[in-house]
Amino acid sequence: MFFKGLALTSALGLSTVLACPDHDYHSQLKTQGLRIHKRQQGAPPNWTYDASIDWGRLSEDYSLCQTGTHQSPIPLTVNQGLSLRHNPIFNNYDMEAQGTFYNWGYGPAMTYAHPEGDYSALPSFTFEEEDGHNETVHLSGWHIHAPADHSVQGDKAKAELHLVHAGEEGHYRSVLAIRIDPGNVESTFLSNMPELISYRHTEERVNTTSNPRLALDEVSHFNQFWTYKGSLTSPPCTEGVRWYMARNIMFASDDQMQQLLNASHFSSRAEQQVWRHQINV
Ligand SMILES: *[C@@H]1O[C@H](CO)[C@@H](O)[C@H](O)[C@H]1NC(C)=O
Ligand SMILES: *[C@@H]1O[C@H](CO)[C@@H](O)[C@H](O)[C@H]1NC(C)=O
Ligand SMILES: *[C@@H]1O[C@H](CO)[C@@H](O)[C@H](O)[C@H]1NC(C)=O
Ligand SMILES: *[C@@H]1O[C@H](CO)[C@@H](O)[C@H](O)[C@H]1NC(C)=O
Ligand SMILES: [Zn+2]
Repeated sequence: MFFKGLALTSALGLSTVLACPDHDYHSQLKTQGLRIHKRQQGAPPNWTYDASIDWGRLSEDYSLCQTGTHQSPIPLTVNQGLSLRHNPIFNNYDMEAQGTFYNWGYGPAMTYAHPEGDYSALPSFTFEEEDGHNETVHLSGWHIHAPADHSVQGDKAKAELHLVHAGEEGHYRSVLAIRIDPGNVESTFLSNMPELISYRHTEERVNTTSNPRLALDEVSHFNQFWTYKGSLTSPPCTEGVRWYMARNIMFASDDQMQQLLNASHFSSRAEQQVWRHQINV
């Protein structure tokens, strides 16, 4: 079985928090600055991935996309080495967390349910920031891009999973990124996902549970990783996001990969120049 049958559950207070980027206009959600707000009813986003080289030009609100010092994604290489600092320490990641499964317009996505403004019961990890203070961030949801946002050694994987974490005040604060490529095994994380909803049916919503630990299991729980200071990978390209890219790849069977790609739509931002990103520093 490639994807699990639908497990309908009654959700708690359903989150209004989207995954990292601001593009699911069907759910009428929006980010403004770092705060997460409900999108005003109405227009779809006025930007597209086809034109991601020039988002800064669309709006003054998007100027960071053009002028930011920590824009994502950036190319990662083996020469950069792996990080010896900022190790994520997972607190309660082994949990059948409740939420809503849907298609964010470009691929599968899940938003976890939590009481309004209170992320404390969601899976979390703790890391040491560069100034030495320890910070705990909570998993608000995940979504998949295809092809990958980040390249490693010049190659982009066929897809990239983003596990999006909120800081204390609901800011987007950290993303755990995992590359997904075809291999000789089935991915347990993908086989536990509900039957995929096509990007053509972005109104569909499924209340279900998913255990994010299954994703960590496939990449040795981020025991090796790159990390850097970056941004959202879609307008308004807000900075202040610590990125982690697992060294290991999540492998999927050819069938899983094809089903995933069939439910996906091009969603990879043009790569940005490395500037103040402090890769692995
Ligand atoms: C999913 O959960 C939300 C929030 O509790 C609820 O409003 C909605 O009716 C549920 N949908 C289904 C299909 O159960
Ligand atoms: C695009 O949307 C942004 C954010 O809502 C807005 O500030 C901007 O004026 C819009 N630009 C165009 C050209 O519609
Ligand atoms: C942060 O956590 C690490 C690992 O638990 C610990 O060694 C360090 O002392 C902590 N730093 C602060 C400022 O609490
Ligand atoms: C792709 O998805 C559509 C539904 O959106 C389905 O009809 C079609 O059979 C799928 N194709 C493959 C190759 O999975
Ligand atoms: Zn993303």
